[in-house]
Amino acid sequence: MKILVDHADINAIKKMYEYYPVDGVTTNPSILKKAGRNPFDVLSEIRAFIGSEAELHAQVISKDAQGMIKEAYKMREVLGENTFIKIPVIPEGLKAIKALAKEGVNITGTAIYNQMQGFLAGKAGAKYVAPYVNRIDNLGANGIQVAKDIHDMLKNAGLETEILAASFKNSQQVLELAKYGVGASTIAPDVIENLIKVDAARCAVDVFVKDFEALCGENKTMN
Ligand code: E4P
Repeated sequence: MKILVDHADINAIKKMYEYYPVDGVTTNPSILKKAGRNPFDVLSEIRAFIGSEAELHAQVISKDAQGMIKEAYKMREVLGENTFIKIPVIPEGLKAIKALAKEGVNITGTAIYNQMQGFLAGKAGAKYVAPYVNRIDNLGANGIQVAKDIHDMLKNAGLETEILAASFKNSQQVLELAKYGVGASTIAPDVIENLIKVDAARCAVDVFVKDFEALCGENKTMN
């Protein structure tokens, strides 16, 4: 499973890249709002840091297909070909996905709350579809199940589209989908950090260090 950083703060992204095996960055307009600066400046800065080969997912704002298509080409021109254009899976979005996919533009179908949205976006040519796991849970449905169903529907139909599971609020949600074998998850830095917050491991390391120091002296290492 690929892991993407769901954030736009360059320092937080740099930290995630330093410590964790991450594959790219995703944003949406609300995430960019938190950065509080010109969105193209922020996205260009992220692109410069992660390099031209890494995946950067950024979302269109227009609500009509023609506007979405125009934005997609502009974003690709500024941010490079490995930019995945996030298009909300509403009817106008599907129309735009069909047109852009035909031209070889990388698309991530986003704002996915149910199985058919995910399936239709895949069929229209999106490379990724992004079910909003936690937001679905908050509607009283089961976000994990929706993501699993879409994964199965895409595989059963022989489509190459992968899940990019999104909107996580805890590590259990990520674990469930990692075990299931979805293609990718995009995760905010605090949730990424919680994936490996294991007090027992820290305690074990403390005991190992104490035992070594008892043998070789304080502050000694294998150096
Ligand atoms: C991906 O970038 C999605 O837009 C994002 O994960 C949604 O997360 P939220 O539900 O926390 O806003």
